[in-house]
Amino acid sequence: PTPILLDVDTGIDDAFALLFAVRCPDLDLRAVTCVGGNTGVDQVVANTRYVLDAAGAPDVPVGRGAAHPLLHDAPDSGAFHGVDGLGGFSRPSDRRTSPLAAIDLLRHELQSAIANGEPVTLVATGPLTTVALLLRAHPDVAAGIERIVFMGGSASRGNMTPVAEHNVLHDPEATAIVLAAARDLDIPITMYGLDVFDLPRIPLDRAGELADRLDPACQLAAALLRFRGRGEDSAGIGDAGTLCALVRPEGLTVERLPVTVDTGFGPGRGQTIVDRRPGFVGRSVTDPFSTHWTSVDVAVAVDATGYADLW
Ligand code: BDR
Ligand code: CA
Repeated sequence: PTPILLDVDTGIDDAFALLFAVRCPDLDLRAVTCVGGNTGVDQVVANTRYVLDAAGAPDVPVGRGAAHPLLHDAPDSGAFHGVDGLGGFSRPSDRRTSPLAAIDLLRHELQSAIANGEPVTLVATGPLTTVALLLRAHPDVAAGIERIVFMGGSASRGNMTPVAEHNVLHDPEATAIVLAAARDLDIPITMYGLDVFDLPRIPLDRAGELADRLDPACQLAAALLRFRGRGEDSAGIGDAGTLCALVRPEGLTVERLPVTVDTGFGPGRGQTIVDRRPGFVGRSVTDPFSTHWTSVDVAVAVDATGYADLW
């Protein structure tokens, strides 16, 4: 199985990712860290612990990460994920939170990965605040990272604004730091953005099949699918697609493209700018601002049915 570290802002589709990470035999979930995003970080921790309970996860450590973006308050993301960030389905959990803060937990796991000669994939499905802090404070951990896969950004439209996606808009500076670190520390990085995010979808009649099972993971999945798909006949697995991409990489079409992020305060704030001009190789005389670009594997198409079936 592929060893992974998962940084989440649980979040309904983060919950889909957590359930899959625990139950998919091709993944080895080593630790989960929590970041403020869809809801406040303490609620994210509570939701994450509960989802891991429902998944029947063994003692996967859960670390509390950044509560706020690095520099600037984020726009309110509203109650898209329900009052508790989990469609009203969150419940108390006896699972303990790690005494290690998220960046220390990630560092600990990555140092073990380096010592064992077995790099792990770092998957982020929330704002990149904690990942940015980790890579700035402890760049030596890069040797333990096989690849960063993040849900965020877009090569086309946004969702929070016409051009900005939620996770990136929540903390554009953190995104810029992570992109720069990936470039400077030679960490391969995949952007699983809005171009593919909403395409793998579960028909709600299949949620009915899940609800009929006694397994708490299936029951929770069914409830969350129905909440997310309210008013529609299917629900997207969203963030969970990042993990499907690890298990079935052949189902994701990526293009290696120069990416930067707009950290200004105009209408473009939070936009991931993806240079799709043929033959453009990053920083060059065609870029009058000498912007720093990172080569990113940008997801541009997905085997939506294959990923939905896999999930
Ligand atoms: C992202 O924002 C959150 O609402 C989802 O969990 C996903 O990570 C989509 O823009
Ligand atoms: Ca998320």
